Amino acid sequence: MNEALPHISIDRVSKSFGAFAALRDVSLDIPPGSFTTLLGPSGCGKTTLMRLIAGFDEPDRGEIRIDGARMNGMPAYRRRTPLVFQEYALFPHMTVYENIAYGLKLLKTPRAEIGRKTGEMLEMFGLTGLDKRLPKELSGGQQQRVAFARALVTGQRVLLMDEPLSNLDAKMRVEVRNELRELQQRAGITAIFVTHDQDEALSLSDRIAVFDKGRIRQTGTPWEVYFKPDNAFVADFVGTANFIPGEVAGVEGTEIVVRCAPSLLRVDAGGRAFRPGDRVTLVVRPECISISAGEADGDAEEANGWSGETLGSTFLGRMIRYRVRCGPLTCIVDDADPSARGFLSGPVRLRLHPGKIHVLPEEAEG
Ligand SMILES: Nc1ncnc2c1ncn2[C@@H]1O[C@H](COP(=O)(O)OP(=O)(O)OP(=O)(O)O)[C@@H](O)[C@H]1O
Ligand SMILES: [Mg+2]
Repeated sequence: MNEALPHISIDRVSKSFGAFAALRDVSLDIPPGSFTTLLGPSGCGKTTLMRLIAGFDEPDRGEIRIDGARMNGMPAYRRRTPLVFQEYALFPHMTVYENIAYGLKLLKTPRAEIGRKTGEMLEMFGLTGLDKRLPKELSGGQQQRVAFARALVTGQRVLLMDEPLSNLDAKMRVEVRNELRELQQRAGITAIFVTHDQDEALSLSDRIAVFDKGRIRQTGTPWEVYFKPDNAFVADFVGTANFIPGEVAGVEGTEIVVRCAPSLLRVDAGGRAFRPGDRVTLVVRPECISISAGEADGDAEEANGWSGETLGSTFLGRMIRYRVRCGPLTCIVDDADPSARGFLSGPVRLRLHPGKIHVLPEEAEG
C-alpha cells in the first residue's frame, strides 16, 4: 500500500454539457496536506470540477491523477475522495453514531473496530455524548461535524467540500470554518473546498484557485491573489479595488512613472518590464491609500499625493469607507483608525504609496 499522502493533479481538464463549456483546459496541482479553495462566481464550474475529482462524472479531455494514479474511468467508490455538500445528506432516521459508522459497516469492518473508530471520530469532532441523537436534534454546526466525521471515518486522506458552510448563520460559519481548518491540519488531510465567499477563501486556504467562466484566472496564496492579482478579474472578485488607468511616462530602475488622470504616480513595477507609452491599470486596495484633511499647500505638491473632495462616507465600526473624487476618478479609501480623527468631509489629501500600488499590463482580449 502506498503510505504517501495523496497528491491530486488536474491536468488540462475540459468538460462540456452539450455546446456549453463548463471547464476549459483547467490545470491545478494540489500538494499533500494542503487546503486548496476553488473560488469564483456562480456558474463558473466549481461543482463540475469537484464532481470530476470525486468520480461522479468524467472529463471530456485531460486527466485527473491521485497519488500519481490516473483516475479516468475509475468509479467514485474506489477513489477514496468523499464529497461533503451544503446539504450534509445525513441519514435522518439514523443516530449520530450510526451515521458515522455507516461506511465502516459497508466495508464489513469487525464490530469492535467499528466501535473504536467511530469513538475516535466522535471525540475528534467534539461529538462525544451526542452519539444517540438524530440529525434533526443537532444544530447546523454539529450536523456539519457529523458529516465530516462520516466522510473521514474509513481513513480517507482527501476531503472534498462543496460550499459546506452555506447553510450556517454568519457567526456559526466563522466558528465552523476555524474548526474545520484546525481539524484538517491536525488530521493532515488534503482538502479541496469550494466557496464563492472571498473572506472564507482568504481565511481558510493555503492556496486559492480563482475561477471565471470555466477557466482558472490565477492560483496563488491568499496574499498573492489579494495583493498581487494577475488580472483585473481576480482583483475585482477578491475584495474591493480601485482601478486607475494610465500610461507609462518613464522607467526609473525598479519603478515606473505612470501618467494618470489626476497626476503622475510613481509605482513599483513589481518586477515586470515596461516601456514608455505602455497602457497599464493600477490596482490599489482601499486600505492602501491614506487620507487626511485639507488641501495641498500650492507650491509643495507632494509626491504621489492627490487632492480630492469627499463624496460620501460609510461608517463600518472598524473603519470608515470614503468615496473621494480626484479629478475625473472616484476612489474608494478606507480609514482604518477612524477613532483618531472622526469623519472627514470636504477637501482631503490622498497619499498612494509606490509600494502599495499593483500594476497590471493592458489585458489582451480573451
Ligand atoms: N449536468 C449538467 N447539464 C448541463 N449543464 C450543466 C450541468 N452541470 C452544470 N452545468 C452548467 O455548467 C456551469 C457550471 O456549473 P457548476 O455547477 O460547476 O457551477 P458552480 O461554479 O458550482 O456554481 P455555484 O456557485 O452556483 O454552485 C453552469 O452554467 C451550469 O448550468
Ligand atoms: Mg456549485
